[in-house]
Amino acid sequence: MTVGRVVVVDDDLSLRQFLSIMLKRAGYETAVASTGEEAMEFMEKQPADVVVTDLNMEGMDGMAVLRRVKERWPETEVVMITAYATTENAVQAMKHGAFDYVVKPFNVDELKLILEKAFEKRAMHQENRNLRELLKDRFGYGSLVGRSEPMLSIYDLMDRVKDTPITVLITGESGTGKELVARAIHFEGDRRDRPFQSINCSAIPADLIEAELFGYKKGAFTGAVRNHEGLFASAEKGTVFLDEVGEMPLATQVKVLRAIQERKVKPVGAVEERPIDVRIIAATNRVLDEEVKSGRFREDLYYRLKVVTIHMPPLRERLADLPLLTEHFLQLFGKEYGKAGLQLEDDASRFLAAYPWPGNVRELENVIQRGAALCRGTLISLANLPEEIVGQVSAVADRPLAQSVGPDGVAMESLLGQYERQLLESALETSGGVKKEAARLLGISFRSFRYRLQKAGLEEPGRE
Ligand SMILES: Nc1ncnc2c1ncn2[C@@H]1O[C@H](COP(=O)(O)OP(=O)(O)OP(=O)(O)O)[C@@H](O)[C@H]1O
Ligand SMILES: [Mg+2]
Repeated sequence: MTVGRVVVVDDDLSLRQFLSIMLKRAGYETAVASTGEEAMEFMEKQPADVVVTDLNMEGMDGMAVLRRVKERWPETEVVMITAYATTENAVQAMKHGAFDYVVKPFNVDELKLILEKAFEKRAMHQENRNLRELLKDRFGYGSLVGRSEPMLSIYDLMDRVKDTPITVLITGESGTGKELVARAIHFEGDRRDRPFQSINCSAIPADLIEAELFGYKKGAFTGAVRNHEGLFASAEKGTVFLDEVGEMPLATQVKVLRAIQERKVKPVGAVEERPIDVRIIAATNRVLDEEVKSGRFREDLYYRLKVVTIHMPPLRERLADLPLLTEHFLQLFGKEYGKAGLQLEDDASRFLAAYPWPGNVRELENVIQRGAALCRGTLISLANLPEEIVGQVSAVADRPLAQSVGPDGVAMESLLGQYERQLLESALETSGGVKKEAARLLGISFRSFRYRLQKAGLEEPGRE
């Protein structure tokens, strides 16, 4: 059994032979190349875990090998060997990502030890990556649960902005998880060890909001008995989360805009401004475009905030996540209420899948919590669901399909979804659960059938 693959590059034949014998004896699968170019050919055919390269060679030298390897196979470790040690070379090599730097003549044990360490590092990377992928695969991002298409694109976007200071605006209906996204960006990003300070702009009286955000000087107003730092300053090098930013008074908006543009704040009653380094994330369930048109929100601030916008889709548009979210909350509240193995009765599940969820994930969370508290044993039944869900779903299901649209209107998406779900279920029943056959019965492709099953929350994505 080999413990890993090593490519050795050296223009000195005797050293090549020596290394090859030594590495093979140590159990490594070894390929030896006499030039950098040849080594790259080996790598293209079969990438190695570690490359050991001489520094001074004709043609492609060790530094070029290092750069190319790190560019093409970033996880491959490179060990540099040289007869002419200079600090500058060593620093260069490390800067370009070399794992270590060995000076000729070297001792065999020294090189063996370095290789072992390089392999350890690689194994650790691999393990971390597998774990990360597994987590991503199974749950979501940060504490966000869900892996429907729209959520995956959101994770991708979050991943790209988390380590930058870019301002992010999160929009979406109430209960869609805007605050969770803000927290995940902070706590997954490179500011995670610094404070995450949030303020709900709708909960603070307009005349206090500036003092809260920018701080105040002792004596600035009645009641200001001591200096107060303010949210921006206390979040230094961290994140300020402006929740419900659409509710911010216009007078405050001007000052926040200034703070963002000039990276300075002036505490109430102070003469001097102080510089700040904060990343700003804002959230709103209002449609800011419209707020701007009607003059309730400053256009210039709007453009400053929405450098990157993350829109959270309502739960009804990503029902594929419903089973996973339900399971997540069942586990959560099962634990909280001492009901391990808490489950939903099939009937109850069906009602949840047919409900349009105007209150989004928060509403689902509440429904499961309530069910967990009310149910006897560990099975949540239809009787444990709130009246309005059962009532509303039944009313929709009982109505004749071809209906006219009255002055109250109808929830078309939800009705069509309901009808589609019934057809899918019925086809599955007729086909005895054979999906290919069910797809045929409905005159659609297998792919489309599976996609629709997932969309209707009848099958988890990625599962056969
Ligand atoms: N994807 C998700 N996975 C797990 N829990 C979620 C998810 N989305 C939302 N929640 C839960 O739902 C609740 C509401 O989420 P959150 O407070 O982030 O929503 P919001 O969009 O900020 O709502 P609002 O506009 O009303 O402030 C929280 O308890 C949160 O933990
Ligand atoms: Mg919120």
